Amino acid sequence: MSDVFVVVTAAGSGTRLGFDRPKALVELSGQPLVVRAVNGAFTHPEVVGIVVTAPEDSLTEFTVLFDADQRVRVVPGGAVRQESVYRGLEAIPDLANDLNIALTDTTPVLIHDAARCLAPTTVFHDVVAALDAGYPAVIPALPVTDTQKTVASRQVNVNGITIEKVIGAVDRTELRAVQTPQGFHWQTIINAHRDATHRWGSETEAATDDGALVEACGIDVHLSRGSQMSLKITTKLDLIIAEHLLTHQ
Ligand code: C5P
Repeated sequence: MSDVFVVVTAAGSGTRLGFDRPKALVELSGQPLVVRAVNGAFTHPEVVGIVVTAPEDSLTEFTVLFDADQRVRVVPGGAVRQESVYRGLEAIPDLANDLNIALTDTTPVLIHDAARCLAPTTVFHDVVAALDAGYPAVIPALPVTDTQKTVASRQVNVNGITIEKVIGAVDRTELRAVQTPQGFHWQTIINAHRDATHRWGSETEAATDDGALVEACGIDVHLSRGSQMSLKITTKLDLIIAEHLLTHQ
């Protein structure tokens, strides 16, 4: 059995969801997304501690949600997701120490978006099993079902509509849509974030996920099976779909 730590990123705004409070505090069937994400991660029996990154100006609201649970620590997030994840990772040694758990180079650390709060235990299980088997970076992903096209960068406006010129097609059998929780050995992911911060400074928005930071270090990243339940709640429609999935699963 491994001791697994998780960083739940929850420091984003709720703008695209149409709320004037942090997205992770928006309720899904009566429970904030961040609470669902943390509870979801704890359904994996090896998860021992979770760091939640919260917006700096809403720290108290987030902290009270987990006050009674010593296994959860809330820390302020950063301006971009990568910065939030890095701050979350930096809090892990302290949390491990308080929980009396040894943190080794290969301790599994998962990075999970609060916005994917319905990710099932099986997805956590597969990621951790592959990390335990020695793979340093494992990401859940799904095959892409829509046909994919590449387009010219210039868009054209015609009678009020925007059209784009197709310049090619992509073989969709080679494509995968990646999700979270993304899993890494502790030393692999903390080094990748240190490197990224050093290399890109405040420009780390360019790296769209943690796997990309690890790839940039020349380390192989592998994919495990994702789930349609792990949808990322970004828009009002996503919230409606998630409510429906919850009541019909
Ligand atoms: O904005 P986006 O939907 O891509 O955010 C993905 C995840 O990263 C969300 O769970 C969000 O709360 C988190 N995030 C963060 N810090 C930021 C921006 C986003 O923790 N500065």
